[in-house]
Amino acid sequence: MAQGDWWRHGVVYHIYPRSFADSNGDGVGDLAGITSRLDYLNDGTPASLGVDAIWLSPFYPSPMADFGYDVTDYTGVDPSFGTLADFDRLLAEAHARGMRVIVDLVPNHTSDRHPWFIEARASRASPKRDWYVWADPRPDGRPPNNWKSTFPRAGPAWTFDGRTGQWYLHSFLPEQPDLNWWNPEVRLAMDEVMRFWLDRGVDGFRVDVAHRMARDPELRDNPLVLVGDRDDPTGQVRAMRLAEMGATLFDEDWPEVHEILRRFRRTLDAYDDRMAVGEVYLLDLRRLARYYGGGRDELHLAHNFVFLHQPWKPEAFRSVVNEYAELLPTGAWPAHFLGNHDHARVASRYDEGGNGLARARVGAMMLLSLRGTPFVYYGEELGMRDAQVAPDRVVDVDGRDPVRTPMPWDGSPGAGFSSGEPWLPVAADAGRTNVATERDDPTSMLSLYRRLIWYRKGSAALRRGSYRSLPDAPASLFAFVREAPEERLLVALNFSGEPVSWALDPGLADTGRLEVSTYAARQPGPVQLSELVVGPDEGVVLRLG
Ligand code: NOJ
Repeated sequence: MAQGDWWRHGVVYHIYPRSFADSNGDGVGDLAGITSRLDYLNDGTPASLGVDAIWLSPFYPSPMADFGYDVTDYTGVDPSFGTLADFDRLLAEAHARGMRVIVDLVPNHTSDRHPWFIEARASRASPKRDWYVWADPRPDGRPPNNWKSTFPRAGPAWTFDGRTGQWYLHSFLPEQPDLNWWNPEVRLAMDEVMRFWLDRGVDGFRVDVAHRMARDPELRDNPLVLVGDRDDPTGQVRAMRLAEMGATLFDEDWPEVHEILRRFRRTLDAYDDRMAVGEVYLLDLRRLARYYGGGRDELHLAHNFVFLHQPWKPEAFRSVVNEYAELLPTGAWPAHFLGNHDHARVASRYDEGGNGLARARVGAMMLLSLRGTPFVYYGEELGMRDAQVAPDRVVDVDGRDPVRTPMPWDGSPGAGFSSGEPWLPVAADAGRTNVATERDDPTSMLSLYRRLIWYRKGSAALRRGSYRSLPDAPASLFAFVREAPEERLLVALNFSGEPVSWALDPGLADTGRLEVSTYAARQPGPVQLSELVVGPDEGVVLRLG
């Protein structure tokens, strides 16, 4: 396997294990199912998708109140996903195909059924009591402060424990008590968890809510702002407004979090070639950039949620990318993604009168040609849309079922995902949007993803080159140049439904060759740079000479 900064140069594919492939017919995806589909992800030939790494959402023992983000044993495998032996096999098989494996680390909270919490909850004198965040009620009996759960339905971030007469903190569900990272034993325990997986051979971690682990030790109230919960279902607008106001949030992004991440980094650096990518859900690029530390001592990568939240406007994406490039410390490398298991699928999110798929194709080209590591959520490569989930099939506490439906492998009733009844319904369009149908169709989304990923693999400019946006491009384009000593590429993405004709600055290049278009029918070949035409909702990659 190629060594070095693989996490900078490769494409990472995000698997939600419950939904990818079910090997035993119980309706729930599992590790053996993933192993059986590895050739689809990368068999070493352009017939496969060609991704370089996979990130697995949690597969640890869990009561599944938040489908695995509520862990009862950090070093095991939930029986519904298989066994540790299945994991070892998956890891070995992925490595044999040159793919790295990143596992989810959920250090902010455990399940309320984790033995640590059961012990902590037993009495105020428990040796584990301080592993979690406990506080007395306010004099009038209300929760200790005004912090809210990230899930609106959960209400306050506190639950009262009648037996011991105190409240415990949970940034998410009451079933997910927050660990107290001020306690050194918690830090030691998580070091062990990391080493357990690193010793087994995993290549890195995706760190869940990496910005939450440290919070105000005095548990002070967050400032009140005039943004109601109804307008702010994720709490992010609140965070953004507060950041704009320069206000301090007391329940996240506390300075000590950087010390914790430096500790994670030291653990990782004791091994060869491992990495951590953080879910740093801060809609403030300045704060986000700090999670790289000095560039080499905190996270290797931080998911950029500001990018994901942009409206379908070229100037919106351009300004986020440019601003972020300015803010990142030397040596830091961006991580882009347009979807994950918590967010609407791209073809649905950006749809306006039926152009969702065309836009998703442009989005794919943007993701795979920008400077930074692309993360692709399973099914995006097929153009999956948000599925309709009937009220009696809803299982998630936060409305995320539509983006977690089974991977459609073929057009059969179980979509080739399961021979049993899938835990979430198969999407209504799976008869058309599936691997078997798309695999041999040169016009499909899957063919475009394969083309882009393999093109990127062969392109020094896209993998590691510099980035420069072209501000003089027509207003509906996001256009940029990627350059390495070996080659220079121009990427032009049309965000509008109108064709654009662009006379490029003659100083930029003498000749241009179309390498890839999001239009399946547009063939590679020479183009006129004095009159470059980019079609409605089209993206192109040109080689400049
Ligand atoms: C972020 C994860 O992506 C999400 O799915 C989960 O609900 C929360 N963290 C809590 O772990």
